Amino acid sequence: MVSPKPRVFVARQIPEKGIALLRSHFDVEVYRKRTPLSRQALVKHIRGAVALLSIFSTPVDAWVLERAPGLKIVSNMAVGYDNIDVGCATRKGIAVTNTPDVLTDATADLTWALLLAVARRVVEGDRVMRAGAFEGWDPLYMLGTEIKGRTLGIVGAGRIGTAVMERSLGWRMKILFVSHSPRPELEDRFAARRVPLNTLLQESDFVSLHVPLTRETHHLIGARELALMKPTAFLINTARGAVVDEKALLTALRENRIAGAALDVFENEPRLTPGLEQLNQVVLTPHIGSATVEARNRMAEVAALNIIRYLRGESPVSLVNPEVLRQKSPKI
Ligand code: NAP
Ligand code: GLV
Repeated sequence: MVSPKPRVFVARQIPEKGIALLRSHFDVEVYRKRTPLSRQALVKHIRGAVALLSIFSTPVDAWVLERAPGLKIVSNMAVGYDNIDVGCATRKGIAVTNTPDVLTDATADLTWALLLAVARRVVEGDRVMRAGAFEGWDPLYMLGTEIKGRTLGIVGAGRIGTAVMERSLGWRMKILFVSHSPRPELEDRFAARRVPLNTLLQESDFVSLHVPLTRETHHLIGARELALMKPTAFLINTARGAVVDEKALLTALRENRIAGAALDVFENEPRLTPGLEQLNQVVLTPHIGSATVEARNRMAEVAALNIIRYLRGESPVSLVNPEVLRQKSPKI
C-alpha cells in the first residue's frame, strides 16, 4: 500500500505556482476564504499537518504552536514574521522561514510612490478631479513640496531601507540613517550619515520606516518622536503599523505638527484609526508594499521551496531560526 503524502496547510489562497510546487510533494489543503482565520480554526486545520504556509496575518502564537503536534515548519509568505512566536517555535523544534529579497524592489518602489504622492498631493488632486471640483489653474492652488536636495531619513537600513536610498539618487537627497551597527558601505555608496534617531527626526524632510516590528520597535515613533520632526516634514511607513503610535500620529497631523504622512500599514489592520481618513495630508494604501504580480509569484515560490527543502533535509532558502538545525532531523 502507498503511504499517504504528508499534509501541508496553506492559510490563504496564494499564487498558483506555489500551490503547484507543494502539490507535487504533499497533500495540500488551501484555506480559500478571504476572512481571517481565528487561532481556534487554525489549530483545527493544522492538525496532522507537517507544514503550515502562513501569511503575515496568520496568528501563529504560542497557543497555536502548543496545539500543533507533528508540525515541523511554519513558512511565512512575507519577509516580516512578527505574527509568529519564533522563540516558542524554536523551543518546539519547529523551523520558521520567510521570503526576503524577492519583495525588496516592489516595496521600495511603493515607498517612493507614497513619498511622491504625499509630497505632491497626488491623491488629493485625484479626489478633486473625480468630484468635478477643479476650477482651473491657479498660481496658489495645491502647492506641494520639492524633493531634490532634501534630507531623507531611513529608519532601519536593511534590504528595503537600502533600496529606498538607492532610488533617492536621482533626487540627490542627503541621506541619514539609523542602524544598530556602523554601515561604512552605505556611507561610501550614498554619502549617507549614521545618526541617532533623535537627530534623524530633527533633520529629515522625509522620514521613512523600514524596521521589523519587535518589542524594541513597537511605537518607536510616538508623540515625543513626532514632536522632534520638522513641521514641514513627512512620515512614510511601509514597515509595520505598530512601529508608529497611530493615535499620536493622528494628533500630530491634526495639529499640523508635521506636514503629512503616507501609510501602507496600520496598527490594527485592517482597521484604521478613525480620523486619519478625514485628513487631506494623509495618503493611505491597503498594505500593498509587495503587491506586484512578479513579487507575489516569487514569494509564493520561495515559501513553497522553503517547505520542500527543509522537509527533505536540505537548507531552506531563508531560515529565521537556524538553531532548529541543531535539533533532530526534520526529514520526513
Ligand atoms: P531587513 O533587511 O531585516 O531590514 C530591517 C533593518 O532594520 C535591519 O537592518 C535591522 O538591523 C534594522 N533594525 C531593526 N531594529 C532596529 C532599530 N530598533 N533601530 C534601527 N534599525 C533597526 O528587512 P527588510 O527586508 O528590509 O524588511 C523590513 C520590514 O519591512 C519587514 O520586517 C516588514 O515588516 C516590512 N515590510 C512591509 C511590506 C509591506 O507590504 N508594506 C513589505 C515587505 C516588508 P539589525 O539587523 O541591526 O537589527
Ligand atoms: C509584508 O508585509 C511582508 O512583511 O512581507
